[in-house]
Amino acid sequence: MNFLNIDDLTREELDDVLTRATDLKERTARGKTAEAMDGKTLGMIFEKPSTRTRVSFETGATQLGGHAIFLGPDDIHLGHGEPVRDTARALSRYVDVIMARVFDHADVVELGEYATVPVVNGLTDDAHPCQTLADLLTIRERFDGFDARVAWVGDGNNVCQSFVLGAALVGLDLVVATPEGYGVDDAVLNRAAELGSAPEVVTDPEAAVDGADVLYTDVWVSMGEESERAEKLDAFSRAGFQVTEDLLNDQLLMHCLPAHRGEEVTDAALESDNSIVWDQAENRLHAQKGLLTYLLA
Ligand code: CP
Ligand code: NVA
Repeated sequence: MNFLNIDDLTREELDDVLTRATDLKERTARGKTAEAMDGKTLGMIFEKPSTRTRVSFETGATQLGGHAIFLGPDDIHLGHGEPVRDTARALSRYVDVIMARVFDHADVVELGEYATVPVVNGLTDDAHPCQTLADLLTIRERFDGFDARVAWVGDGNNVCQSFVLGAALVGLDLVVATPEGYGVDDAVLNRAAELGSAPEVVTDPEAAVDGADVLYTDVWVSMGEESERAEKLDAFSRAGFQVTEDLLNDQLLMHCLPAHRGEEVTDAALESDNSIVWDQAENRLHAQKGLLTYLLA
C-alpha cells in the first residue's frame, strides 16, 4: 500500500502504526531497534529542502537495520526530463520503499500508481501525512489518548490539511483559525466530515485559542510560495495571527518546524515551557519507523 494521505490508513491501521511507533520508541531512542528493514533500502526523493524528514527517515531506516539513499533535485533525472512514471518503475526494481517530497501532489499519486513498492508522501503542496503521524503520536503521549481540543492558528496549508484529516480520524476536537482567503480546501473539509468530524472554522485566532489545550501553528509562507511572501506576511500579521506568549495562555505549543521566529511565532513563545516542538520533531523518527515496519510487514 501507499501512504500519500493520512486517511489512506483506517483508524485501526493508524492505531497500529502509532502503537508500533511507541513500542519502537520505548525499546530505545538510539541504536538499532528492529530488523524490519534488514537488507532493505529506502529511496528518498527530495524536490524541496528538508532537515527533519530527511534525517528522521534516513536514521529510521538505519535503526531498522536497513539503508536509505538520498536523491536530491540534482541527483536524479526526475525534474530533468525523466517522467515520474519511469522514475517510479526503475526505482521499484531496486528499493523496497520510496519516500518522496515534491511540489505537485499529483506527482506522488503518479509515483504510487507506477511504483511496485510502497510510496510514502514526505510532503507535497497539499499534504504532509508523516507530520500528522508524529503530531498524533505527540498528542496521544501528552493526553493519554485524543481527548483534547486543538486550535490551529495560521495558514490552511499542507500541514494543516493533513492534521484536519488526522484529527477527524481519531476524533480530536479541532478548531482551525486562518485569515480570510487562506483556509483549508473545501474538499479536505468535506473529507473530514465523511471521516467523522469537520473542524470548526473561524478567522479569529483569539476565539480559536480560548478553551483549547493545544495551539498548533506553522509558517505563513510554505516552500514554493516565495512569490506570495510579502502579501501573505502582510495579511497574517494584520489579522493578528502571530503566536505570542500573550496569545498562548496555558496551551501546549506545537509547530512542525522549521519556525520563522518573528513571523508566525515569537522567539519567546517558541522557547517557552509550553513549547513541545522538540518532542514533536523527535516523534517524526518514531512515527515513521512505525510506518515503515507497517508498510513492510
Ligand atoms: N517538519 C518537517 O517536515 O521538517 P523538514 O522540512 O525539515 O523536513
Ligand atoms: N508548510 C511548510 C511545512 C514545512 C515542513 C511548507 O510546506 O513549507
